[in-house]
Amino acid sequence: MITALIMAGGEGTRFWPLSRSHRPKQFLKLTDDQQTMLQATVERISELIPLEQVFIATNKAYQRPIEKQLKGIPAENIIVEPVKRDTAACIGLSALIIDRKYPGSTMIVLPADHLIEEKDNFLNILKKAVMVAATGCNLVTLGINPTHPETGYGYIHYGELTHRIDGDEVYQVEAFTEKPDIIKARKFLEEGTYLWNSGMFVWQVRSILDNIELYMPELSASLGRIGQALGTDLAEKVICDEFEDLIGISIDYGIMEKADNIFVIPGSFGWDDLGSWPALERVKKLDDNGNVIVGKHYGIDTLDSIIHSPDKVVTTIGVKNIVIVDTEDAILICDKNRAQEVKEIRQILEDNG
Ligand code: GDD
Ligand code: MG
Repeated sequence: MITALIMAGGEGTRFWPLSRSHRPKQFLKLTDDQQTMLQATVERISELIPLEQVFIATNKAYQRPIEKQLKGIPAENIIVEPVKRDTAACIGLSALIIDRKYPGSTMIVLPADHLIEEKDNFLNILKKAVMVAATGCNLVTLGINPTHPETGYGYIHYGELTHRIDGDEVYQVEAFTEKPDIIKARKFLEEGTYLWNSGMFVWQVRSILDNIELYMPELSASLGRIGQALGTDLAEKVICDEFEDLIGISIDYGIMEKADNIFVIPGSFGWDDLGSWPALERVKKLDDNGNVIVGKHYGIDTLDSIIHSPDKVVTTIGVKNIVIVDTEDAILICDKNRAQEVKEIRQILEDNG
């Protein structure tokens, strides 16, 4: 039995001001697609797995919008975290819940906010990852060939080629480094034996719970108490109490950097995690001056910029490499090369109420 877990509880802070805590990246239509990123993710995986076996994990605030957006998903498959405690807790809780409905299943874990242009290639690689995961206590990731020293990703140092499945290579992972600094990222790129972690994982429910027990004992103990309460009237309260006390940590730092039974399948399927505003240059049509324009814009000597203003007319004169985003109550004007720092601006706003 194969199940899928789509993680849809992140905030996508680098697309501020379009993404907000009430409207995170997975609920946006960033490509020319008419669907949100989350809807596209569900539709993609539904070709491999029936919707009854697809689960969505999110936090309370997003439960309603998700139910609205995803009509075909059974209500009991929407897993609600009372507070955000990052992806390790999300995956641990989901593994327990999935195991109750589909005991012993192999679980595909997917982010809700990535672009995948070559669906067939993607599903093909996923099937192979399921095969590898199903054969033992393996943690399997899909790796992407790196093109630049990105510091926002995990890096997989791959080792021995263990086998091939229908032409696709499966490698043992030597080491996993989450979000290295720029110096390390450059070194990894030069060495040529590294892949980016796509953030998509496949494992048996039992395998991930065993690894959590080994490397995250506190989370494991919490999950043990939650597991005992699941199916009783106490479940919601116990989940709330346990989550309250957990420390937020991602699966990448909590498990992937420590585990020693990881395999990676390199894949090429038009993957893009659309990490920040300049990513739109890769997925939208550029005008003759290299600009991405969403909405109405008139400019003189305006080059290589990203202008997102669905409601108001924006005019620019003599600018290059900038990002302008207009929303109902906030405007961003930013040097395109510093678009990663939008995350920090959001933090400043939050700190200042
Ligand atoms: N349910 C739930 N709860 N979902 C969450 C939570 C949470 O607490 N936190 C994050 N998510 C969701 C996000 O919405 C996204 O779909 C996914 O989990 C990954 O979280 P991100 O916060 O976007 O992670 P990242 O982009 O910084 O890093 C991960 O992805 C990279 C590739 O895009 C890591 O796996 C990296 O190693 C990887 O390279
Ligand atoms: Mg991400």
